[in-house]
Amino acid sequence: MEESVYNPISLEKAYTLLNGGGLLWICTKSKEGRYDLAPIAWACPLDYEPVTKFLFVCDPGHATFENVVNQREFIAALPTYKQKDLVLKTGSVSGRSYEKFSQWRISYMKGTVVDAWVPKGVAGWLECKVLEIYRPSSVAIVCGETLAAFALPNAWKQVLHHVEGEHFYQPGDRV
Ligand SMILES: Cc1cc2nc3c(=O)[nH]c(=O)nc-3n(C[C@H](O)[C@H](O)[C@H](O)COP(=O)(O)O)c2cc1C
Repeated sequence: MEESVYNPISLEKAYTLLNGGGLLWICTKSKEGRYDLAPIAWACPLDYEPVTKFLFVCDPGHATFENVVNQREFIAALPTYKQKDLVLKTGSVSGRSYEKFSQWRISYMKGTVVDAWVPKGVAGWLECKVLEIYRPSSVAIVCGETLAAFALPNAWKQVLHHVEGEHFYQPGDRV
């Protein structure tokens, strides 16, 4: 292939080439009892035996981070393409000042073992306990271990992937 077909990618945008996994909604509960959810695109599997472990990158300023630190558990739900607008809304404000579930009348299911709310219509979800939290540089890495997981039979086809800003995509057929 001609080298000229490749455009240089800025080092700030190079991560968009790595964003392989589906977007998550990290669902948590605050000390005061407010249920919250925040879209998180930067997530990655860590291990699968004997149970799935994974990490997500979280700005320590987010209410989600404070909740995860206090609660030591969370739910990672997988929004579908149809929920893109709600993803953008829930990622535009903080759970510290907004009751996001009531603000946008989000119907929900209760977690089976973790005290957090899962928005209805998601492709699936993982209920997790916090394994470790790392604080490299100005970010936080939260590592979770799955306690329970549920998914639609064709969940992988329905998940929503994030590139950057308002640019999303839906995976095509498995090849
Ligand atoms: C599509 C999308 C992806 C996002 N990915 C991340 C992410 O990977 N890590 C992060 O810390 N924030 C991410 N955010 C930002 C948070 O979701 C956003 O700041 C949210 O309002 C935080 O809410 P909270 O304060 O209730 O936790 C993302 C937002 C959007 C819309």
